[in-house]
Amino acid sequence: MNFQLTEEHLAVQAAAREFAQTELLPGVIERDEHQKFPAEQIKKMGELGFMGMMVDPKYGGGGMDAVSYVLAMEEISKVDASASVVMSVNNSLVCWGLETYGTEEQKQKYLTRLATGEIIGAFCLSEPEAGSDATSQRTTAEDKGDYYLLNGTKNWITNGSTASVYLVIAQTDVEKGHRGINALIVEPDMEGFAIGPKENKLGIRGSDTHSLMFTDVKVPKENRIGEDGFGFKFAMATLAGGRIGIASQALGIASGAYELAVKYAKERKAFGVEIAKHQAIQFKLADMATNIEAARLLCLQAAYDKDSHADYGKSGAMAKLFASKVAMETTVEAVQVHGGYGFVKEYHVERLMRDAKITQIYEGTSEIQKIVISRELLK
Ligand code: CAA
Ligand code: FAD
Repeated sequence: MNFQLTEEHLAVQAAAREFAQTELLPGVIERDEHQKFPAEQIKKMGELGFMGMMVDPKYGGGGMDAVSYVLAMEEISKVDASASVVMSVNNSLVCWGLETYGTEEQKQKYLTRLATGEIIGAFCLSEPEAGSDATSQRTTAEDKGDYYLLNGTKNWITNGSTASVYLVIAQTDVEKGHRGINALIVEPDMEGFAIGPKENKLGIRGSDTHSLMFTDVKVPKENRIGEDGFGFKFAMATLAGGRIGIASQALGIASGAYELAVKYAKERKAFGVEIAKHQAIQFKLADMATNIEAARLLCLQAAYDKDSHADYGKSGAMAKLFASKVAMETTVEAVQVHGGYGFVKEYHVERLMRDAKITQIYEGTSEIQKIVISRELLK
């Protein structure tokens, strides 16, 4: 395995860093405070090719590898994890799912616009009564011949009110269990589709999280992804790659907090010297840097596995499990290094600490990652 980044990788990383510092940093505190979706910034990210990075150029994507995606996700997440979750959902759940399992018609109709960022998508698996236990879906997609009749509620949907394409996982045949589940492409103007109020969240407050209600929504049969009953496997396979995106988000949140802590430690004086001269602070920075490096290697390993068509279920879950723990620990310590200043908004680290927590919850909690990893180890 060779983790030498190519010139292309470095160029993607530099472009993402530049974008994050110049376009996302100004206004990030205000967007967090007012729960403002970064609409203009997401549009620009689409123009720069960050919304469909790995999609084949024939569908409008960047044709890049997963390593490039990890590098870009890290840089964007250092500054604005609300923007990076939009990027992650669009790239690794919606675009990847459609490109890998969609029909040519579905790709032409939806993927071409999703990959350029002209529109964004949402991935709708979780429900009020079914989060980790994803097979116990209550939402039903009744087979009515040439359409499915969709009824039920999805919870916590990222891009809930801003998406133009929703990939909805629903139960068609309860008796078949997970083999009776389908994945359907739903558009927001379909009759019977309603969007609940925006969630008021601890972190990633700029992102747009809603419940969705479906009442007798008629979804044409041609909007089903894959064969009848493939919906649960579609969700699992898609999430396996999505976890690399969220692992990279966690990595970015950690490395963003670390960089701020180093800068502050060199500026702030206490007892006549910069606090960076106190060994207690040096040791915190050493721990942070070591953990971040290990998290980065796990993210790159998972991306490398994906790029080389090896199985990445375990490595992606390991990357997410570890990087999200590192994000939590590093951001808490970065606040500590900043002392009282770390507790107020303008120094950014308190936001990163709040944003870090979600990486241990969505796209499978840390406990679920351990289930995925241990099943692989023991099989
Ligand atoms: N690829 C393809 N198929 C897979 C798969 C994968 N990676 N993993 C499992 N499957 C298949 C299995 O082979 C099995 O099929 P067969 O019976 O035909 O072999 C089927 O899926 C069911 O698998 P399990 O028996 O392992 O299912 P389970 O009920 O024990 O659940 C689980 C497994 C890992 C706990 C799963 O339910 C899970 O991942 N839960 C977490 C849900 C989750 O991550 N939600 C995230 C929502 S999206 C989100 O959060 C977005 C965001 O934040 C921005
Ligand atoms: P539960 O499943 O009820 O879990 C509660 C606790 O029990 C957790 O600690 C969990 O780890 C633990 N637990 C559950 N089962 C086990 C077990 N077998 N062994 C050990 N511990 C267990 N979902 C989507 O589909 N699409 C989205 O776009 C999306 N975006 C989200 C954005 C945000 C901001 C949030 C908060 C959530 C989002 N989610 C989304 C939902 C997210 O994926 C779920 O919240 C997550 O999967 C956990 O499900 P739950 O909340 O129902 O918790």
